[in-house]
Amino acid sequence: MIRTSKRLAAVPPSATVATTFKAQALQRAGKDVIGLAAGEPDFDTPGHIADAAKRAIDRGLTRYAAPAGLPELRDAIAGKLKRDNNLDYRSDQISVGCGAKQSLFNVMLATLDPGDEVIVPAPYWVSYVDIARIAGGTPVIVPCGRGSRYKLTPEALDAAITPSTKWLVLCSPSNPTGAIYSAVEQRRLAEVLARHPHVGIIYDHIYEHLVYGAEASQPINAVAPELHERTLIVNGLSKGYCMTGWRVGFVAGPTHVVSAVSNLQSQSTTSTSTISQWAAVEALNGSRGFMHNNNEIFKQRRDLVVDQINKSPGLSCDVPDGAFYVFASCAATIGKKTSTGQTIRSDGDFVDYLLDRGVAVVPGAAFGMSPFFRISYAASTEVLTQALARIHEACRDLLD
Ligand SMILES: Cc1ncc(COP(=O)(O)O)c(C=O)c1O
Repeated sequence: MIRTSKRLAAVPPSATVATTFKAQALQRAGKDVIGLAAGEPDFDTPGHIADAAKRAIDRGLTRYAAPAGLPELRDAIAGKLKRDNNLDYRSDQISVGCGAKQSLFNVMLATLDPGDEVIVPAPYWVSYVDIARIAGGTPVIVPCGRGSRYKLTPEALDAAITPSTKWLVLCSPSNPTGAIYSAVEQRRLAEVLARHPHVGIIYDHIYEHLVYGAEASQPINAVAPELHERTLIVNGLSKGYCMTGWRVGFVAGPTHVVSAVSNLQSQSTTSTSTISQWAAVEALNGSRGFMHNNNEIFKQRRDLVVDQINKSPGLSCDVPDGAFYVFASCAATIGKKTSTGQTIRSDGDFVDYLLDRGVAVVPGAAFGMSPFFRISYAASTEVLTQALARIHEACRDLLD
């Protein structure tokens, strides 16, 4: 019998991916389950982007690309970073990966040695902790409660930094909470980081364009330029451009780190699909009018979800500023009983109970914070309305 590696022994499969596919399997088996676990827009990829991919196929642009990505795509990314974030990057400071997830994976594998610590504010996107572990690093989880709107405070950051800290991971807008770090908040974090020059920042900006308030979301080096040399931006086209299946992400940062990332890429997938890369060139350089329409719809859905969750007995949530998730507390359901006599002891139990009642969501435990659960509102208003009614009834049916 072939043993799997020790490196993977402590690494579970991604909880969000697992829940999404569990819900899909139940649906295929004929169970009436509404899936609100997935982290992807329900909108199709805009037509002009898909057409660019078709043109690439017709023109025979179907060969391997350089590991760092097509020069045309890296130029388009540099243009995007200037246009949207007023940041200057040369194309040799950019490396394209098979989605932001692989870019992040490459960064951690290319930079972490055993004993290196990675500060991850919780609640966090499920993969940071596991990727850091796979890469041999030690995640240092810093709980950021509802009181700070789930954001890292300068005091908590200061307390978490040690001589072994290699990276601080920031995600804004956040998955799972939708929280956005304002310019002021980021400058305060930058003041702490100024005292610890050995700490680098991985800035996950994948939800950059999904913002519903007045202030745009900017990476920390855009508001604190003194951090530029130690910031790595991870971003991609999956969310804002509705291109999850195309698998295009990128990293932008100091040349030596980016070049290590590209070396690693050359030893794994070589590059992401050339066809997807041509589609990404069009996405970044072409019209982005669709984003405004999508965001209008997302904002209405967000308001619907927040309103209905806060009306459901035992649940409560705040209004998220971005992304397409609501992170809701189910604290007041803990200790209650279902009609079949089962006691809800954790957010995992609550989520299992909701699945029985026909709605799939992800427990807060998967994001390092309990007792909460995450709803994705990347689903039509009709589907959301039906799911929220089921959640409401399920909560109402719980017994003391
Ligand atoms: C916070 C965050 N970062 C990165 C990713 C990865 O995105 P992709 O690999 O599709 O580009 C996701 C996807 O769910 C995410 O939520």
